[in-house]
Amino acid sequence: MSKKQFGSKIGLIAATVGSAVGLGNVWRFPAETQANGGAAFLLLYVACVFILGVPVMLAEFSLGRGGKSDAVGVFRKLSPRTAWWVVGAVGILASYLITCFYMVVEGWTLEYLWHSVTGGLYESVGHMTTSDVEGADNIFARRMDSYISADWPPLIFTYLVILLNIGVLLGGVQKGIERLSNVLMPVLFVVLVALCCVALSLPGAGEGLRWFLSPDFSKITASTVINALGQTFFSLSLGMGILITYASYYPSHTRLTRTSMIVSLLSLLVALLVGCVIFPAVSNFGLDGHSLRGATLVFQTLPEVFAFMPATRLWSTLFFVLLLVAALTSTVSLSEVTIAFLQDRFGMTRLKACLLALTPLFVFSTLCSLSFGSMSGFTIFGLNLFDFLDKFATNLLLPLVSIGVCVYVGWFAPRGLLRDQLTNGGTVRSRMTVFVLFVIRYLAPLMIAAILVSNFI
Ligand code: PFF
Repeated sequence: MSKKQFGSKIGLIAATVGSAVGLGNVWRFPAETQANGGAAFLLLYVACVFILGVPVMLAEFSLGRGGKSDAVGVFRKLSPRTAWWVVGAVGILASYLITCFYMVVEGWTLEYLWHSVTGGLYESVGHMTTSDVEGADNIFARRMDSYISADWPPLIFTYLVILLNIGVLLGGVQKGIERLSNVLMPVLFVVLVALCCVALSLPGAGEGLRWFLSPDFSKITASTVINALGQTFFSLSLGMGILITYASYYPSHTRLTRTSMIVSLLSLLVALLVGCVIFPAVSNFGLDGHSLRGATLVFQTLPEVFAFMPATRLWSTLFFVLLLVAALTSTVSLSEVTIAFLQDRFGMTRLKACLLALTPLFVFSTLCSLSFGSMSGFTIFGLNLFDFLDKFATNLLLPLVSIGVCVYVGWFAPRGLLRDQLTNGGTVRSRMTVFVLFVIRYLAPLMIAAILVSNFI
């Protein structure tokens, strides 16, 4: 049984928002928005967050706080002698696989932060003019290649972030995760607002902003809806056991409905602000035709944007601080899923559980990192190891666990679990119970199954 608990309301919200806000908001959201037609996608994403995301989040919260244990332990406690614990076990596996490659991206972020501070990223570039976009493209594409595909430098930075994660996680729930989130979440918002002000004051910002915010409904297709759903699950950290684990640290008086709304709203707000930075900036410098997909956006297009701006190194440094903060508070939550499991299931000390969970990453993340360099020839189903783990965990395991959680809480959990948790044992009102129950019983499993099928088609 877990005796760990968050110490304050602000702390538990900061930690949960820290988990939700990550690469999903900064690196995945702009790419999905660009690929799916702009504002129409944004509206769908907002709808998915409130119609499906919040209820599924509440199902995970109820399980975690009702079962007061890790992602496997809650099922064993609430439904002993059944096989439901497998859902939690797959969640732990998924969070672990995601951690393996997420650490690598976090390592790249630290590497880019280092090169922004020292100026290496902009060496011999100087302050560029937009008349030579093609030349700038080449420079930053080559630079990305040399930073990410080299064998050693990205590995060293990945090891540094693994050590950073171990340091935070060794501090435990209150002195590690909560304290980190309390400090870093305000930093993230301040940096983001500063970047937003600069991007919006660029001369041609209006056009990018208009594209981002004026919807063209003719762009909505079945695949837009599926992508908005996928983005919702990724960005709210659903289907990984993360929210089950964190909610097991919530005190009994925490209002779950309110918490889920605050977390979802803040995660959305970050995505919105990121959009207000990226779309005006790229359109101002004539880069809107560029791919905003993952690594290219963050490690090529944006440095190019910064190189066109005055105070290049300042904005570049601030942006990579933002990304590092977002990624760090997410990897801490991803790793906590395994640590909580090891502690609760095998009675390990925090130290032992942290080391057992995180030291294998020195090997696994190395393999993921090398899959862009000397191991790029090693492929599974035509994908390098990094991409394979990403697709396998996010496209297959994540929806499977989410369906499992919804079906369990909706149909098989002890009677009244959800109602009890949403009303804190009948002491507060929650008008959402009937709606949440409807969504997790019928709508969410069907929609998530649609994502699953479409991922395969
Ligand atoms: N929600 C975080 C993000 O958007 O980056 C962290 C995360 C958790 C990502 C779980 C992916 C995931 F499957």
